[in-house]
Amino acid sequence: MTDTFVAGGATSALNAPLRIAVIGVGARAAIARFAVESGDGLIVAGVDPDDRARARVQSELAPEAATFATHDELLASGVPVDAAFVTSPDHTHAEITIDLLEAGVAVYLEKPLATSPADADAVLEAAARFGTPLYVGHNMRYLGVVQLMRDIIDRGEIGEVKAIWCRHFVGNGGDYYFKDWHADRSQSTGLLLQKGAHDIDVIHWLANGTTTDVVAMGDLSVYGAIQDRRSNADRRMPDWFSLDAWPPLAQKELNPVIDVEDISMMLMRLDNGVLASYQQCHFTPDYWRNYTVIGTEGRLENFGDTGGGVVRVWNSRTTYAPEGDLVYSIAGDAEGHSDGDALAVGDFVRFVRSRTSTQTSPVAARNAVAAAAAATESLRDGATPRKVAPPSPNIVDYFTPNQRKPSGPDLGPATHKEN
Ligand SMILES: NC(=O)c1ccc[n+]([C@@H]2O[C@H](COP(=O)([O-])OP(=O)(O)OC[C@H]3O[C@@H](n4cnc5c(N)ncnc54)[C@H](O)[C@@H]3O)[C@@H](O)[C@H]2O)c1
Repeated sequence: MTDTFVAGGATSALNAPLRIAVIGVGARAAIARFAVESGDGLIVAGVDPDDRARARVQSELAPEAATFATHDELLASGVPVDAAFVTSPDHTHAEITIDLLEAGVAVYLEKPLATSPADADAVLEAAARFGTPLYVGHNMRYLGVVQLMRDIIDRGEIGEVKAIWCRHFVGNGGDYYFKDWHADRSQSTGLLLQKGAHDIDVIHWLANGTTTDVVAMGDLSVYGAIQDRRSNADRRMPDWFSLDAWPPLAQKELNPVIDVEDISMMLMRLDNGVLASYQQCHFTPDYWRNYTVIGTEGRLENFGDTGGGVVRVWNSRTTYAPEGDLVYSIAGDAEGHSDGDALAVGDFVRFVRSRTSTQTSPVAARNAVAAAAAATESLRDGATPRKVAPPSPNIVDYFTPNQRKPSGPDLGPATHKEN
């Protein structure tokens, strides 16, 4: 046992803050600050091809940090780096991450792992070949609502899971996904993958299975009609965000290229027989996710997906009973998922330091990409059924020790019981 670890070709004391690089200094780059705030990391470098983004490295992340236009320049610079947060657009994930892993830099890679199954597999193979820590930031697994649903299932309150339905009301979709690179399939593949990878991963996790078969329908049914377009490369989210942009056809300044769907619906068959559906709409007035999980002895459903919401459980036979038999309060950030982000970054830091198991799984991240990519093919090819290729057994073997069953939060007692 040694008290040092080696990453990025450099050696730093085990308990010293990790020397962190942020690759892609846009809206999501701030996640790296969780490692700084916990005392686990120092941001030593920022990488972005855009001058304005590079200027933000010092003003928003770390005044002393070095800046580079490309990750190649960073790796050639001699600046010692232990870990990197890859928060660049999706189509850049695979190349950047493979190069970092080869250089021995541990990577926190934002979801989705990649924009195609082939690229996702290439990243996993690189992590296994070079033995460098890879973590994929599926932060939804740390959200109170997801932890709560998983614990209810694990306690057997609804019996054996047979079906999961997720409806995703992406009310902020016009602002979040149709004003920049997300709207361009050459950079995101499509929103079933870009955004849906989160929920496909959650569905797999709640069902304890992996999708083998998909079929999907989708369309660009609203935003394609808006002709008011501009490149927003000079800005970033939330510069253009406004709840006043309503109804959706009143949106302005959309991305010049829009060739992704704004409504998508996919059906999944999992390897353990569970059937699932995921429906995503980017022009709803409200913004939240609604899951229902149906088992052999009941069903659960969430109302609200942040702190202040509830998960209701029905476990007795009835007709219409809106309150359910049991009600659990959702713990966590009432505004969003910063609590999940902090937990995810903490898990990453522990993993980098001592290779502890993590609650997220690179193989599961790959499986979410594979299912979403197959569904995207299906919806662009007349809703034809698609098989989802499994990962290679060697890759699964390499990553399996990293997976961990969560202990879950203390839920407290159910607050309501009828009958
Ligand atoms: N887990 C979550 O909840 C969550 C939330 C938001 C975004 N994300 C993910 O974070 C990533 C970034 O999203 P965003 O909203 O911050 O995008 P963004 O457009 O705001 O920022 C991306 C930045 O990367 C830069 N960039 C482009 N090519 C680059 C390259 N080759 N090397 C380095 N930098 C490059 C851009 O100039 C830009 O500054 C995406 O993969 C997205 O899916 C995850």
